[in-house]
Amino acid sequence: MASAHVQVFPWPLQGHINSMLHFAAGLLDAGLHVTFVHTEHNLRRAHRAEAVATPRLRFVSLPDGLPVDHPRSVGDLTDLSKSLMTTGPAAYRALLASALSPAADGGFPALSCVLADGLLPFAIDVAEELGVPALAFRTASACSFLAYLSVPRLVELGEVPIPVGADLDEPVRSVPGMEDFLRRRDLPNSCRRRAETDDVDPLLQILVGYTAHSRKARALIFNTAASLERSALAHIAPHMRDVFAIGPLHAVSAAPAPATSLWREDDGCMAWLDGQADRSVVYVSLGSLAVISLEQFTEFLSGLVGSGYAFLWVLRPDMVGASQSAVLQEAVGAAGKGKARVVDWAPQRDVLRHRAVGCFLTHAGWNSTLEGITEGVPLVCWPFFADQHINSRFVGAVWGTGLDMKDVCERAVVEGMVRRAMESGQLRMSAQALSQKVRRDIAEGGSSATEFQRLIGFIKEFGKN
Ligand code: UDX
Repeated sequence: MASAHVQVFPWPLQGHINSMLHFAAGLLDAGLHVTFVHTEHNLRRAHRAEAVATPRLRFVSLPDGLPVDHPRSVGDLTDLSKSLMTTGPAAYRALLASALSPAADGGFPALSCVLADGLLPFAIDVAEELGVPALAFRTASACSFLAYLSVPRLVELGEVPIPVGADLDEPVRSVPGMEDFLRRRDLPNSCRRRAETDDVDPLLQILVGYTAHSRKARALIFNTAASLERSALAHIAPHMRDVFAIGPLHAVSAAPAPATSLWREDDGCMAWLDGQADRSVVYVSLGSLAVISLEQFTEFLSGLVGSGYAFLWVLRPDMVGASQSAVLQEAVGAAGKGKARVVDWAPQRDVLRHRAVGCFLTHAGWNSTLEGITEGVPLVCWPFFADQHINSRFVGAVWGTGLDMKDVCERAVVEGMVRRAMESGQLRMSAQALSQKVRRDIAEGGSSATEFQRLIGFIKEFGKN
């Protein structure tokens, strides 16, 4: 039988591209063919970062609808989001229709199915309309998906929207399985009324709609593991046609994933880490989207320096408002007195695996959380937006593998939490125990590995019809 062929279509952002490329690598390991859809803008950037195709993997692209010279700044995704939602359906229909013509196969088998980002609901609709089965992939945690799924009920009960000025530490009791530990602040921040207008954030309605839309897909796939989110997965399953938990995907594939970075990684920090003692370095990265103020930058810097530990800090050039990154990097170097290393972008998974790293100060984006968990590194979480709040709560209160800074950004808190994460034997033991569990999930016979095999069978069935 000809190999199955899956088209993978992520939201055009680093965190989404990473986990879906890791998924693609898993499909390639299983002998399948993959067509990976980038936007034209990202394909140009990814190629600069040597994203190379292989005989069973090819990259195609579609326009994102924005002018070539649009900054596509991560601090404001509104333009990109609007443009994708308005021009995306027609552009995707054209791309998919051409992929279905017999002339387009280029040696690839006929398309078995589309695996679309759950935040691109139009891709699910377009694929099904063109007769291609569609699967949905959510790059965020299952617990955050369950929170969005629960929003209509929370609204009915008057728990959402959260009033301006409300105590964010108050419990929220109506997300199933999380009754004992969830607080208002752990819900996506779009659940909070906005001070300036006192309106409900329109983003909330959109995201709740996208979440419900996943029901239309033949199955919903999560980059998570049963030992992390068994309860959330069980509560989601009855609402979807099928659910697969197959992560952490970055650790699944035997072969390295094709280059995934839209930024150029600074490998020099690995040699710097080689020169540091075991578990002596704090690794700091707030992911690909967070934008912080100069004040927050200063609080982080003072807290890190105050902790007394060496640190490696990812300071993206677009991260601190309009500030010049060279000036900021110099400031870090001076304050760190030889114990600090700053990079624009790090090879994060290698960094976290390095023996010198003692803890990870993170925004608790789902990929970063999974990468830290897999390596058994204690996390200090400073959630920035969306799903990161609930991930941070799970780290602090459910898995006990790190500390939840909430949204506090004060030097004394940074300093205190970094010290605790570096020095607490209990946190390290819990982090390592969870890492072992997750590694068992992805090893042969483990829950994620078994689910992955089930998914491959599921996909191959499409090819038979
Ligand atoms: C955001 C959300 O927070 C996340 O939960 C959601 O699923 C996707 O959108 P982002 O800010 O990109 O994601 O964070 P995260 O999910 O942690 O992904 C960042 C990725 O970039 C990770 O895979 C990380 O390894 C990588 N990275 C980060 C690097 O390779 N180098 C760096 O220096 C920093």
